[in-house]
Amino acid sequence: SAARFVLDPAFEVGPVDPRLFGSFVEHLGRCIHTGLYEPGHPAADADGMRTDVLALIRELGVTAIRYPGGNFVSAYRWEDGVGPREHRPRRLDLAWRSIETNEFGLGEFMNVIGKLPESEPMLAVNLGTRGVPEAIELLEYANHPGGTEISDRRVAAGDKEPYNVRLWCLGNEMDGPWQIGHKNAEEYGKLAAAAAWAMRLIDEDIDLVACGSSTRAMDTFGTWESTVLEHTYDLVDYISMHAYYEELDGDRDSFLASAVDMEAFIEGVVATCDHVAARRKSSKKMKISFDEWNVWYSSRTVGQPPRPWAENPRLLEDVYSVTDAVVFGSLLIALLRHADRIAIACLAQLVNAIAPIMTEPGGPAWRQTTFFPFAQTARYAKGARVLTVNVLSPTYPTAKHGEAALLHATAVIDDAGAVTIFAVNRDREAALPLEVSLRGLEHLTSVAEHAALADDGDPDAANTLENPERVALRPVDGTTLEAPGSANARLSATLPPLSWNIIRLV
Ligand code: AHR
Repeated sequence: SAARFVLDPAFEVGPVDPRLFGSFVEHLGRCIHTGLYEPGHPAADADGMRTDVLALIRELGVTAIRYPGGNFVSAYRWEDGVGPREHRPRRLDLAWRSIETNEFGLGEFMNVIGKLPESEPMLAVNLGTRGVPEAIELLEYANHPGGTEISDRRVAAGDKEPYNVRLWCLGNEMDGPWQIGHKNAEEYGKLAAAAAWAMRLIDEDIDLVACGSSTRAMDTFGTWESTVLEHTYDLVDYISMHAYYEELDGDRDSFLASAVDMEAFIEGVVATCDHVAARRKSSKKMKISFDEWNVWYSSRTVGQPPRPWAENPRLLEDVYSVTDAVVFGSLLIALLRHADRIAIACLAQLVNAIAPIMTEPGGPAWRQTTFFPFAQTARYAKGARVLTVNVLSPTYPTAKHGEAALLHATAVIDDAGAVTIFAVNRDREAALPLEVSLRGLEHLTSVAEHAALADDGDPDAANTLENPERVALRPVDGTTLEAPGSANARLSATLPPLSWNIIRLV
């Protein structure tokens, strides 16, 4: 039977903050070196940045870019990455067992941001091995106009104007035992509050993100958020969330329903934030920075023998299939469905390490399968408003998430009144008929596009160095708008088996 929902502009979730389409650049593997930055590459500009990669980032539509980590930041000395290159130290990066040359640092990152008109920086401070003094010094270096020893170091490095970085993360995944300088919620809450308070003395316009849970599976999930927020509620603007999904033990049906877990996680964090607000009798609604999310086959790295120390090793270079991209598109749908509380989200990461963009040293750059749902969703949802979608759908059994809906969907309306539906069919074998009643949308007259990411023959198909254009969006025929211009307007579509879909109505 068909899946159905009703769209009515009178019922909306809320506007989409453009920062929902953020990403993440960490000193990890080849994300930076031979990814973003490769002096000597035929496509490198005078600053050593790969213009082929920059063009793909622009096409992707990325907004806020988080830097420099991730796990890396928790032992990072930001001073190592600024000033004359010949004086920058080589160091051990304990988080990723790599040699960090520090050739690329804050100034180089801001140089990249300057080449991406849609992007803004989001910096993380080290609250693992360091604390309040280093956090405020970094902020002074970045945002103070000049005339002090620290801010004049930036000026001497050639950046006269302050960077005016608005978004700051107070550490990274501090709840995780794997994090260097890991803390309990009480210790971290106090430290984050002290750092937030001092940082605002330098720049009162900054927005601050406190660390939430690293995954929903953490034993401390829930109590971590409530304890941290008890210390920081009035001092921070966002609490972070991180989530990664992968297919385990061949259980593709559960993997396809990963967004069920993601939505439950979001709703749990919202409930916890609101509980703290209620306890404090606060009218402030805490927002979420979902600053790491993706499909990541992290279990493949568990139990591997220690690698030799190396510069820019090939790490986390997951190759994404059509199936991965369908799940990925579904995670984007989950984010949009909660746009009332999620202000920022960062796809982790941007280049080479669990990334939508891949490169070969000295060679080409190409789009992974996940590139397509991100680019399309960013293009049509950025700045639009999310409409309420209550899906009536046939279900299927999953081992991890119980009965899951075959259809996962959301819809947005832009300022010109155009409506875009994003929908996933989780059925691996059968196409799914979709009927959408359009109420109060008499101005819509036609289907401008129905395209899908799907593959009849091979759900494991991927784009690779050898075959970089194997997978792309393809048009879907037969989508119709019945009784347009009337109160009975109705969209009919057929979603291909195991597919992510975009349907645009104008
Ligand atoms: O994105 C990869 C890693 O995942 C990040 O460094 C860390 O924050 C998370 O565990």
